[in-house]
Amino acid sequence: MKTIEVAMLGLGTVGSGVLDILEHDQEKIKQISKTEFKISKILVRNIAKYRDSYPNLDLTTDFEQISQDQDIKVVIEVMGGLHPAKEYVSELLKQGRTVITANKDLVASFGPELMSIAKEHQGGLFYEASVAGGIPILRILNQNYVGDQIKQISGIVNGTSNYILTQMADNNWSYEQALSEAQKLGFAEADPTNDVSGKDAAYKLIILGRLAFGINLKLDQIKMMGITEIDKKELAVIKKFGYTLKLIAKLETQNSTYYPVVMPMLVSENSMLGQTKNEFNGIEIESYAIGKSFYYGPGAGKLPTANSVINDLVAVAKKEAPFKTDWNSVSVSVKDIFTRQYWFKVDSSQNKVVANLMDRYQIEEADFLNDEQYDYYLTDNVTVDQKAKLFSSLKEKNIKIYSMYEVY
Ligand code: NAP
Ligand code: HSE
Repeated sequence: MKTIEVAMLGLGTVGSGVLDILEHDQEKIKQISKTEFKISKILVRNIAKYRDSYPNLDLTTDFEQISQDQDIKVVIEVMGGLHPAKEYVSELLKQGRTVITANKDLVASFGPELMSIAKEHQGGLFYEASVAGGIPILRILNQNYVGDQIKQISGIVNGTSNYILTQMADNNWSYEQALSEAQKLGFAEADPTNDVSGKDAAYKLIILGRLAFGINLKLDQIKMMGITEIDKKELAVIKKFGYTLKLIAKLETQNSTYYPVVMPMLVSENSMLGQTKNEFNGIEIESYAIGKSFYYGPGAGKLPTANSVINDLVAVAKKEAPFKTDWNSVSVSVKDIFTRQYWFKVDSSQNKVVANLMDRYQIEEADFLNDEQYDYYLTDNVTVDQKAKLFSSLKEKNIKIYSMYEVY
């Protein structure tokens, strides 16, 4: 039985979960990987915070204690953020170490650079836990779609925002109350701004795009809108249409044109995505050979995410190759060319003008509701051109669009 010395950068939600799993499932992990993993050093900022819970661990605040210890062959980065994570991971890869990370900010922003450092120095970069927590979606994409052609990959990939929207819609919680609970449960990032702005989901979409299409999207190519402005009352109206609002990350393609978005969208309440609640994630893949497939599971949280880290650890022990992401040489052309339905809300007093404009641009109404003050329209499928004409005409006529969402 071989032994691999492993260090960790970070001992928060995910790091503590990795220790729990290594302790409780030691025998099974040993048998399957034929390896004993020895956690030697752990980097934190504040040792006192961890001392009582982990009296026997070698905790340090000095990264060099890890980088200069040549017995450490694998380092698990679960500290989060871009800096100093990038500098630490680069340094370790330059020394030929293998790094396992759960950090999507890092992998999305610097993945190709880090992977090429790893390749040059015979190290490896593994990052299953960076997307969709406990769902092994990256390994699935890497191994199981080799002979298939993906047309669209989309779904719910941020647990915190999904937890917030679920609590607001189903239990009438306020946004603030739901966010605070998601933080307590360990789903949210240390700074939850990226969770609620859509940026966390956009980072994950970049990583999914590399594995699904071999393309390398930039953050500014992704149309992004978060959930901070969502009105709880509107969620109740959307429910009357048979839909629920979800923060969706979606990457569609047609003839080498891609369209990546992260935004709240109306999702049919009875669909699998509509039933994906709380911190759960759901990813739908539409492909030529398989057709539609759906992957569901906890997208955040201590043990589900730690399990993905452990899977990488076992892959390293078994000498599996890191994920292949740069197999497509087509340069990324980003444009919306897709037909879809829209839902929007305007003042009721404007109903004649709206009806005239919809008529003028040959936009059919699929459903309609109104209350004392507002009209809510659900359009039939419209082209990008019809949509642009309708909304710019409404704007020209000073008709306020209180909200407008795509239908998934
Ligand atoms: P967390 O609970 O905030 O823990 C972060 C840990 O890293 C803490 O132990 C912290 O130490 C340490 N740390 C942070 N910055 C450091 C620095 N500059 N130097 C030394 N130590 C530092 O975070 P987490 O939720 O475990 O998330 C870790 C990573 O996993 C992130 O990249 C996150 O996006 C990703 N992830 C998280 C989840 C989840 O459900 N939480 C799921 C998937 C992926 P101190 O406490 O001493 O500051
Ligand atoms: N904060 C992230 C989320 C953690 O809520 O999805 C999992 O990546």
